[in-house]
Amino acid sequence: MECGMIIWNDSYLLGVEEIDAQHRNLFKHLASIEEQMRVHGTYSCLHVLYFMYSYAVDHFSLEESLMDAVAYPEAHRHKAEHECFRQAALEFHKDVKNPETIGDVVAYIKQWIVTHIADSDRRLCSHILKTRPGL
Ligand SMILES: [Fe+2]
Ligand SMILES: [Fe+2]
Repeated sequence: MECGMIIWNDSYLLGVEEIDAQHRNLFKHLASIEEQMRVHGTYSCLHVLYFMYSYAVDHFSLEESLMDAVAYPEAHRHKAEHECFRQAALEFHKDVKNPETIGDVVAYIKQWIVTHIADSDRRLCSHILKTRPGL
């Protein structure tokens, strides 16, 4: 993915209100990280990155509990994708003292979130809407 600003648009809406609200917030936080990096340089955005990772991990908990609630047939694969992101977060924490890696980390997060929402989360939400339209 090209490293332009990440901007929310409604094509990312998936129809499950709680998930959509959290995705919108993830975009907002990513945009704020990018803005801080642009204005202040890379190192000042570290606390926002920490926040971003913990927020993403909380978000996965929500999605995974919904998967369990609807007996989602692709849960195993989807949870494995979340686990990859968690592992990448742990690796990042180990290397956090190296400011040169931050740009790469932000690029990774952006690419991961956008492709994951467009593919895996979209399939999950369409299953939720079919099986539990009230959720
Ligand atoms: Fe997900
Ligand atoms: Fe998600």
